[in-house]
Amino acid sequence: MRRGVATAALAATGVGVVARTMRQAAGQTEHIDAIDAHLVQATVGDVGPDAIGIDPTDFLTTFDRGKVVRLPDGRTLREWDIVAQDRTIEVAPGITFAAWTYNGQVPGPTLRCTEGDLLRINFLNAGTHPHTVHFHGFHPPAMDGVAPMVEVGGRFVYEFTARPYGLHPYHCHAIPLKKHLHKGLYGALIIDPPEGRAPARELVMVMNGFDTDFDGANEVYAVNSVAFHYMHHPIRIRRGELVRVYLLNLTEFDPINSFHLHAGMFKLFRTGTRMDVHEFTDILMLCQGERAILEFTLDDLGQYMFHAHQSEFAELGWMGFFESVEDPEAFNFDDGGLLAGALCTSGTVAQ
Ligand code: CU
Ligand code: CU
Repeated sequence: MRRGVATAALAATGVGVVARTMRQAAGQTEHIDAIDAHLVQATVGDVGPDAIGIDPTDFLTTFDRGKVVRLPDGRTLREWDIVAQDRTIEVAPGITFAAWTYNGQVPGPTLRCTEGDLLRINFLNAGTHPHTVHFHGFHPPAMDGVAPMVEVGGRFVYEFTARPYGLHPYHCHAIPLKKHLHKGLYGALIIDPPEGRAPARELVMVMNGFDTDFDGANEVYAVNSVAFHYMHHPIRIRRGELVRVYLLNLTEFDPINSFHLHAGMFKLFRTGTRMDVHEFTDILMLCQGERAILEFTLDDLGQYMFHAHQSEFAELGWMGFFESVEDPEAFNFDDGGLLAGALCTSGTVAQ
């Protein structure tokens, strides 16, 4: 693809024009070159706002805290309705994928609670194949989502106490697992520690891939399903603020995936189950199902690239930019996404 084609396609959406004006106003012309140069190898055009059942930028900061009931013993009960359903998603402009989803989106909704909460997941299989919901973390084996298999039209209620605090994947455990996973039946469960974490801009990133030609290998790689999405729509954060990324690897077919931050370093909290820092680094390698919490600040204005450090994955879509800005008008999140609460105390209160 020629550079002029990429630039014209981006400008046609209006996004490129706005971003460029903002950067020029901030005297950031060198960064225009950085993003334009890399867009040469990115996709042309844009996906629809509902491409993966939710806008990929909104997905970053959307936490579903469930319906909340205070139990007589003082505990918090959080309840969710999760429905497995088939849905076509768009993983790159014009590239559709016949997904199997939780609640119509890939990744599924990010469920959030506090350690010690009682969780109840009302699962309905409205898809066309048997499915389950298998959570990582502690729970009775009967609640493990391996058996019973929930047949088409069937229901099952998963109920268990949230522990330990940390970041956990959930996914379907029907056979063949490879198929049920890569079709899109996965998501994140964040269990906050009782004392919470420091306020930060919190972002959920699920590394995934899509086999679009049924050859048992991925043709498209991404975080949060859309190839190159965060190159076309850099993730804007405030210069110097604490950023916390909840990173999960749910890529099928490849044994590992990785995350690399340019021009900065992050504190690594593996699995998020301990509060002390495991490592200070700029690359993290994760096996399928592994996850970690990353914390960093971006102290200069401009665009910080991030991508898989396997070049093949990066060049097939798993690449994006954080954009460190000073002007609050430039943020692409609602205030609700800013400094998202360290403590999960909110939710929809049941009547
Ligand atoms: Cu399944
Ligand atoms: Cu698993």
